[in-house]
Amino acid sequence: MTINNNKQLNLESIASFCKQNAFVFPSSEIYGGFAAVYDYGHYGYLFANNIKNAWMKSMIQDREDIVALDSGIFMHPITWKASGHVDGFNDPQIDCKTCKARYRADHILEEFGVSADKQPLEFINAELDKLKSEGKLKCANCGNKDFTEAKVFSLMVKTNLGSPTDTLSEENVVYMRPETCGGIYLEYKNVLTSQSMKLPFGIAQIGKAFRNEIVARQFIFRTREFEQMEMQYFHNPKDTKELYEDWKQVRWNWFKEYGIAEDRLHWYKHEKLAHYASDAYDIEYKFKCMKDSFKEIEGIHARGDWDLSQHSKFSGVKLDYFDQITEERFVPHIMETSTGVARQFLMFLDSAYTEENLENGETRLVLKLDKRLAPVKVAVLPLMKKEELSLKAKEVYKKCKEILYNTYQGIVEYDESGSIGKRYRRQDEIGTPVCITIDYDTLKDGTVTVRYRDSMKQERVSVEEIQPYL
Ligand code: GAP
Repeated sequence: MTINNNKQLNLESIASFCKQNAFVFPSSEIYGGFAAVYDYGHYGYLFANNIKNAWMKSMIQDREDIVALDSGIFMHPITWKASGHVDGFNDPQIDCKTCKARYRADHILEEFGVSADKQPLEFINAELDKLKSEGKLKCANCGNKDFTEAKVFSLMVKTNLGSPTDTLSEENVVYMRPETCGGIYLEYKNVLTSQSMKLPFGIAQIGKAFRNEIVARQFIFRTREFEQMEMQYFHNPKDTKELYEDWKQVRWNWFKEYGIAEDRLHWYKHEKLAHYASDAYDIEYKFKCMKDSFKEIEGIHARGDWDLSQHSKFSGVKLDYFDQITEERFVPHIMETSTGVARQFLMFLDSAYTEENLENGETRLVLKLDKRLAPVKVAVLPLMKKEELSLKAKEVYKKCKEILYNTYQGIVEYDESGSIGKRYRRQDEIGTPVCITIDYDTLKDGTVTVRYRDSMKQERVSVEEIQPYL
């Protein structure tokens, strides 16, 4: 068997794989679609849940210094004034005057080697004018060269929650949270007192966030509604340097533990830091489906005391900490690890997606996912659809379900439709690590065939042995 590298994996082929295999569907397809929003099908839901459970386990089960939180999507609107999002969470955009395609002006400038990071709009427009006069700006969609001026576009998603009118006047506007960490800062004090926490400690949260992304054409890589897995680690500023290195290592190891090859991972150091940050690195992954380019999966940022100080200033509530041993009082500093569920989903799919040329001339598509992340753990298959085999297979299926469900290990699937070869292929495609096949020998001697996804090796095991085996 050889790995087939000929087929070029790209976002279109991954999206079509996801749709065919009930991982991800484009939203509102029967109405012509709804840009940058996706729905997760049966296997996608299970897979995403496994990623989230693995992340939460690494935060709150494997350590004693982190607690969980599930805060609301809606928060007091002042939250986002204090955090700087209302005034500063913007992207500059330009539109093609011919086909109306919309572009991030800063991304266009970057392509021409001009950094627009934190530059004012005047700078961006001046640089764009230079490119326009040199005839270098061209719409990637229709090829025309006529563009609007750059305008600032807020990424905040507004809603009129609680408002009796349909219009969004400034006083009744409520925002859908653009990041989940806002809820963690607002609950810092409640967590501190209700759980008698001592520094350093972390709060971990998984939840939805919403951004009016201007350019969202990269399947689930950048969407307008997405889930984040964020952890904020509250600590004494004197420990920042050491803790930062620890957290970088912890998060890097997590990717490796779940099967990402180290040569596809990369640290990106932010040279231009937010004024409150002392260090900011991203973990990037080299996507096969995006022309082997490195893209951000997770940010690990030392945010200083900015967040608690701002919320303290805007709320008038003290958010400091008294260390009873050193008798110091100070505002804790925060170390953040922040990653998106869909980004990890796409990364794990990209890394696991394998096409193999088999010796019999066939091609096999197999998702070589870590078994802890695989949507289905075991598939039980009668060799063919015959009553006596189905009856026995359902007994084995029930037994496997009892074992796996009782130990919270995941989903078992039963399938008797089509040839056994096709059913093996189907399970390979969704990444099921083990198939158990029931045949006529099972009826005679009580043994089943266990087939492994990656090696395709098969062995006979007695039904009685399945429990310790699984
Ligand atoms: N609290 C910090 C924060 O939100 P960020 O770099 O804007 O930082 C963190 O986002 C992570 O959230 C990213 O590394 C990415 O994995 C994910 N993410 C951000 N915007 C996203 C989007 N529009 N669609 C999908 N995932 C997104």
